Amino acid sequence: MRRDRQGDPTVTSLATIPNTKVRTAIFPVAGLGTRFLPATKATPKELLPVIDRPLIQFAIDEARAAGIERMIFVSHPSKSAIERYVHTDTDLSETLRGRGKDSIADALDAAALDPDEEQVHFVMQDEPLGLGHAVLCAAEKALPGPVAVILPDDLIMGETGCLSEMIEAYGRAGAGHMVATMEVARDEVSAYGVLVPEGEMTGNVLKASGMVEKPAAEEAPSLQAVVGRYVLDGSIFDDLRHQEPGLGGEIQLTDSIARGAARVGLCGFRFSGSRFDCGSKAGMLRATLAYAGQRDEFQQVLRDHQPLALAAE
Ligand code: G1P
Repeated sequence: MRRDRQGDPTVTSLATIPNTKVRTAIFPVAGLGTRFLPATKATPKELLPVIDRPLIQFAIDEARAAGIERMIFVSHPSKSAIERYVHTDTDLSETLRGRGKDSIADALDAAALDPDEEQVHFVMQDEPLGLGHAVLCAAEKALPGPVAVILPDDLIMGETGCLSEMIEAYGRAGAGHMVATMEVARDEVSAYGVLVPEGEMTGNVLKASGMVEKPAAEEAPSLQAVVGRYVLDGSIFDDLRHQEPGLGGEIQLTDSIARGAARVGLCGFRFSGSRFDCGSKAGMLRATLAYAGQRDEFQQVLRDHQPLALAAE
């Protein structure tokens, strides 16, 4: 299996590509997933399924729908199952086809990343030094221009993918850094990066002068929490290289975004979909119920269990 596939078929046309084109998505997937132990003892948390679809697949599909050309997974050596999962498995597909299960093989092939057709890179983050450090690990593989960052355990379901919406708004927003935001209750702000807004929301965009990582409720500059989708000016890597450890002794992505805000501009983007915190058990359960609700085959199950759920309240 190839870890670093070099050779960019699009490189010759670089000069003609405007600098705001978002061509790279970075997926930080090195975390240990301690909140889901023992489930995550042998299975990376990004491969935990929402019914039959691993979290990472939702993230990959969102990046593809947004026209991303290169996907960089920042993983950990103990999580090689992610590499096995994301790549095409020709042996498995052939076995399935040999047994007449062509439609399953077709679906698998369509979901997987084919290194002959798509640019896929795996880089390793050996130590848990923070989200900012994870993003920096991808620097050498990123294409020129702004980069997207997708945190797969923030699952966002909606008619249009969150990253597609953001990239669509990015050129018009006039800010180098754009972060997905949603309003949360004051007692929840300490779980998030929080925007320091400048003025009011215009359409879906809220200009900001900075961001604070996980502030105490009484010190929060706003209730605009950042969820795991970012479109960041390419200068983020330089800022991360010089970033001192912040909250928890980690290199915080939030701190480098805040540092670049005055130079390249920063805004929040209010996305239209529903976000599920699949890093938490309750969020995973909510996502599962929402996903089941979209599929005919589970309608009866949901109806059967509604009285039970109400009885437990
Ligand atoms: C990370 C970021 C935080 C952001 C959150 C979104 O925190 O550091 O700014 O609000 O993701 O899910 P984590 O949840 O990894 O602690």
